[in-house]
Amino acid sequence: MEYACILSGGSGLRLWPKSRKAFPKQFLKLFGDKSFLEMTYDRIKKILPQDRIFIVTHINYRSHLKLLLPQVKDENLVFEPEQKETLACIALVCMHVLKKDPDSILGVFPSDHFISNIEKFESAMKKGYELAKKDHIVCFGILPTRAETNYGYIKRGKKIGEGLFLTERFIEKPDSKKAKYLIKSGYLWNSGIYIFKVSTFLRELKRYMPHYYDIFMRIFSAISNENYIEELKKGYKLLEKVSVDKAIMEKTKKLVVCISEFEWDDVGTWSAFERILRKDENGNVIKTEAIVSESKNCIIFSDKFVMALGIKDIILVSVEDAILICHKSKEREIKDIIQGIALNE
Ligand code: GDD
Ligand code: MG
Repeated sequence: MEYACILSGGSGLRLWPKSRKAFPKQFLKLFGDKSFLEMTYDRIKKILPQDRIFIVTHINYRSHLKLLLPQVKDENLVFEPEQKETLACIALVCMHVLKKDPDSILGVFPSDHFISNIEKFESAMKKGYELAKKDHIVCFGILPTRAETNYGYIKRGKKIGEGLFLTERFIEKPDSKKAKYLIKSGYLWNSGIYIFKVSTFLRELKRYMPHYYDIFMRIFSAISNENYIEELKKGYKLLEKVSVDKAIMEKTKKLVVCISEFEWDDVGTWSAFERILRKDENGNVIKTEAIVSESKNCIIFSDKFVMALGIKDIILVSVEDAILICHKSKEREIKDIIQGIALNE
């Protein structure tokens, strides 16, 4: 890998009310003294020199970024005027990398992952880099453990090396019936990390999203010019919101999957904390001062003292101006509901 970009401009609404549009999860310190973004940056810094690591985010998050990672130079920060999901932010970083180096290999890293076992992570990235040189788009597959509907699923095709396969199908975010079927059929989860030659990615962008390609080429021509911000804003207005997974990965024939042995979790919903943090003898995850009695399998994050008696499978999250009380089976609905009300800010 010659360059990396960290995607850090999502709004993380599934972790409401801690994660808010104005302060989304990638900037939160939910595990200790480091935010997700800092943990991601530390991981990549072990693989690449800092001047080759870009961070792409919405312009409104500039101050959060500066506060958490003051050492990152301005030329490594790429700001977006609007949140248009992951295809746009990846294409924008490709333009900046292309300007520096027309034939380079870029690794794309979400900033909402919990990864342990860093040696295995590093060796997977090295493997991915070698494959990307051969014009493949490399993704990293995780052996699934549940019928998760928030992930992409990958069907392995022909074996091309140790733990390496061509991909036969990519299905982004199936419904739960389909997810159950995909797991039985041996599909892998997509980790959301990609490595590719910028030129390979741009060929696929041109093929499957030609209007996106044209817009980004106009933005490319304006980089380093006075009218860059104006062109960027103009271009972004014309983009529809779409993820790289839906727009490119579901369609491309260039995708190969590297089965990953590092421990990985997308901390996308409150339930993720059950997998990452220590539970008490009744299966509760409690991050607060609390008396919890005759309660099972609950997740409690609060800035106030909590007394919980006789509750089961409940998520309780309390912050200064809002409280979430949600049955675990309903947590998928948090994002859609909160999008429509002002408290998501
Ligand atoms: N700059 C920028 N701008 N970053 C963004 C934007 C945007 O508009 N939208 C999302 N991001 C960032 C998020 O902050 C996150 O770090 C990363 O891009 C991925 O976005 P998510 O919204 O978290 O994606 P996802 O988790 O639903 O799905 C993706 O990841 C899964 C595994 O974590 C897909 O790649 C799935 O296929 C995959 O299984
Ligand atoms: Mg995610």
